[in-house]
Amino acid sequence: MRTVNIGIVGIGTVGGGFVRLLQLHHDDYVRSYGVDLRIARACALDPARAEELGVSDVFTTDWRDVTGDPDVDIVIELIGGMHPAVDIFEDAFAHGKHVVSANKAMLSGEMGRLAGIAHANGVQLRCEAAVGGGIPIVEALEHALAGNSILTIAGIVNGTTNYMLTRMEREGLSFDEVLAQAQSLGYAEADPTADVDGLDAAAKAAILATIGFNTRVTRDDISLVEGIRGVSLEDVRVAAELGYRIKLLAIARRTSSGLDVRVHPAMIPVEHMLASVDGVYNAVYVVGDAVGETMLYGAGAGSYPTASAVMGDVLELATPIAHDRVPLPEAEPFPRVEPIRPAESLHDRYYIRLTVADEPGILAEVAGVFGRNGTSLQQVRQHGGSQGSTVQIVLVTHRTLERDVRASLDELRGTAGVAAIDSMIRVEDTQAWKRDAIEASSRV
Ligand code: HSE
Repeated sequence: MRTVNIGIVGIGTVGGGFVRLLQLHHDDYVRSYGVDLRIARACALDPARAEELGVSDVFTTDWRDVTGDPDVDIVIELIGGMHPAVDIFEDAFAHGKHVVSANKAMLSGEMGRLAGIAHANGVQLRCEAAVGGGIPIVEALEHALAGNSILTIAGIVNGTTNYMLTRMEREGLSFDEVLAQAQSLGYAEADPTADVDGLDAAAKAAILATIGFNTRVTRDDISLVEGIRGVSLEDVRVAAELGYRIKLLAIARRTSSGLDVRVHPAMIPVEHMLASVDGVYNAVYVVGDAVGETMLYGAGAGSYPTASAVMGDVLELATPIAHDRVPLPEAEPFPRVEPIRPAESLHDRYYIRLTVADEPGILAEVAGVFGRNGTSLQQVRQHGGSQGSTVQIVLVTHRTLERDVRASLDELRGTAGVAAIDSMIRVEDTQAWKRDAIEASSRV
């Protein structure tokens, strides 16, 4: 057995968790797996942090000391962002080193290209921690579920927004109130854009779709990305009355007209397994044609949960290295590129809340607009009482084309008597998610 040397760049929340987890379990890994892991280099800006973690003797402020160190077998990149993260990957690969990372924002654009460089250099790129924190979803899609044709991936992959939606629902807090509280508790960043506007979830959707469908999907390929700013307390309440909960979902589906990849708030039936995922927790629901429905649930962020995923990747690489074998190089990356369906061709159901003049004939007029644009309504109801001269109405459509709903909303904006279109939220047909799974009855 030989020692496996780790070079780590970034010893903040996740990196610090990794260092401490290794200190805690080093001897267990030797006993259980025959793997002696050593931190050979630790790169950060702050020497005091290295001191605090007990890695001052291997501390450097220059990441090139890590990627260029001939003793380092595995480089861990935990600084996030684009540069120098991408340079660290490239330099590590050029030096024949494997890279483990949690960098969802960068990988959601660069994974295909970097995997190609890893392949050419005979090393691996591993990123279990990039999606769902401690949840082993990347491993599941790459290996345990590899025998399936994956039909649907639907994930709650952003803990901040799930926490916010949960508190809005449970405590009747407004979006602004809950955002301010989430910021003061440290769940939401001072600039909450990446979480609240769906960008973080979109990066994770791109990675999930890439791995799940063995194709190349980047963040920029996903045209439908909406966050939760448009979800009001009113919508959360009406959803509950209708038997739904609102969740920010990252959805990736294989359809006959291409891949359907999108991020937006969605109403899902309260009895669906994703509906019970509350607070900062994440879950990724996957339907494979053979396995049927499955869901992985757990902590989507945080020091030790994310370090758990990083350590899993490190041990996967370190086990052969420790026994003088070479980990398999990265596979030839994603030769297939499947088209992503445009959002306008999405076939879904839609919840729409409108403020209209409180006068006879207005409901018929609104219904007429949808009818003329090819959309049939499943439910129309008045919500709450009259507010002076206006009233709120809630509509739920049958399954229809998104393009037709958008055309109706455009027409309603110019309709006398329609004071405001307050919200439009997609209502997911969760039964359709599992269609095309091989039926148990046909298997026996
Ligand atoms: N900002 C992310 C979240 C952290 O709220 O889930 C983990 O990627």
